Amino acid sequence: MDFACLWLGLLLPLVAALDFSYHHQEEMEEFLKNVAQNYTSITHLHSIGKSVKGRNLWVLVVGRSPKEHRIGIPEFKYVANMHGDETVGRELLLHLIEYLVTNDGKDPEITSLINSTRIHIMPSMNPDGFEAVKKPDCFYTNGRENGNSYDLNRNFPDAFEVNNVVRQPETVAVMEWLKTETFVLSANLHGGALVASFPFDNGVPATGSLHSRSLTPDDDVFQHLANTYASRNLNMKKGDQCKNKMDFPNGITNGYSWYPLKGGMQDYNYIWAQCFEITLELSCCKYPREEKLLLFWDSNRASLIEYIKQVHLGLKGQVFDHKGNPLPNVIVEVQDRKHICPYKTNKFGEYYLLLLPGSYTLNVTAPGHAPHLTKVTIPKKSQDFSALKMDIPFPLKGQLDSIPVSSPSCPLGPLYSNLPSHSAATKPGLFLFLVTLFHILFK
Ligand SMILES: *[C@@H]1O[C@H](CO)[C@@H](O)[C@H](O)[C@H]1NC(C)=O
Ligand SMILES: *[C@@H]1O[C@H](CO)[C@@H](O)[C@H](O)[C@H]1NC(C)=O
Ligand SMILES: *[C@@H]1O[C@H](CO)[C@@H](O)[C@H](O)[C@H]1NC(C)=O
Ligand SMILES: [Zn+2]
Repeated sequence: MDFACLWLGLLLPLVAALDFSYHHQEEMEEFLKNVAQNYTSITHLHSIGKSVKGRNLWVLVVGRSPKEHRIGIPEFKYVANMHGDETVGRELLLHLIEYLVTNDGKDPEITSLINSTRIHIMPSMNPDGFEAVKKPDCFYTNGRENGNSYDLNRNFPDAFEVNNVVRQPETVAVMEWLKTETFVLSANLHGGALVASFPFDNGVPATGSLHSRSLTPDDDVFQHLANTYASRNLNMKKGDQCKNKMDFPNGITNGYSWYPLKGGMQDYNYIWAQCFEITLELSCCKYPREEKLLLFWDSNRASLIEYIKQVHLGLKGQVFDHKGNPLPNVIVEVQDRKHICPYKTNKFGEYYLLLLPGSYTLNVTAPGHAPHLTKVTIPKKSQDFSALKMDIPFPLKGQLDSIPVSSPSCPLGPLYSNLPSHSAATKPGLFLFLVTLFHILFK
């Protein structure tokens, strides 16, 4: 009898298995709270704000130190359901949470991932939109927008043109959240197409718009990131599965090449938050029947896990002064991939640079001091769960023995406004026209 109880107790999972159905706000909250209660040492549940209608914007953090950042542990995030009627990502992230917590200490890969990474998961950025959908539809519904009828993926500051929209509570919550952590890598989960799309979503001639694309100086890394996801999703990698006449070679695309948009979240992350983000379109049908959810989980699980591991690409470390104190606000960038808002060390003096194997020259700069150039080679076969670690002693010269804290942050204006502006004739006109005509909106 006693033995039987013990045996049963060991077999029962801590949390009743999550079913493959849609979880509305209350059920989602209950699931997240149960996970947080049952896995206290590796999870932290918090709300980053409220939607227009007062629903919590939940984030569950998974990691060995879930409540706070640890030096050398990169911060990763997934955000889903920013368009409330694009529902697959929302359920996938709930299943991902379950998969991570139930495999910790059992599956060596997941255990290593949790040991080396702090993973922030936001299953719904637009709970009001999700609840507003009365009749699930594969195409557009009013659930796309938030409770004030704003498209949240048009609601962020834009680097290329003025974006005069009223910033919504969900957008403000995300912008504030981005300031609280040094996020390194992210993906934003959508539906209505099947493709991994990478920055920029908007552009000017200086970023390639005359050639119907808009590329970042980190394009090699972004292509690698998008390929990492798409190549493990058998349908996505075929590239033309949605019958919307778009062929995406290998299942990836530059956002602008597909169709330009203003005020998107991925460009905002890359430009203002030092965080590389891509947009994942996970299902041809925006709101598929729940019988399909298991298939979506099966076809995305490997991609979701492998993508998180990419947060360990490249280089990381701390910048110190001659006394060994960490230096915040020091610009650390690769010489020929300057960001329009320079990437700086955080309050612990840490930097993280996502880079593919190769040789690079780092330019380490603090205001009032001469730039410090240093060469580094990232080997082909680097470790799986850690970027190459390189601490940088920074030779402070001159009167100052510290970095002025007043180093200006990047303005929220169109930073490319001094560059030649958009020319309507250079946009991928026909597709944009079709998109407008049929009101088919994805990202
Ligand atoms: C663990 O989760 C289950 C539901 O799956 C819940 O009933 C139980 O109270 C939770 N245990 C703890 C300790 O919170
Ligand atoms: C993960 O970290 C724990 C200690 O927190 C350690 O005991 C374990 O060996 C580590 N596992 C892996 C696979 O790195
Ligand atoms: C290093 O970066 C600083 C600040 O971004 C810049 O002013 C300087 O020209 C760069 N130096 C080199 C050699 O690239
Ligand atoms: Zn979308």
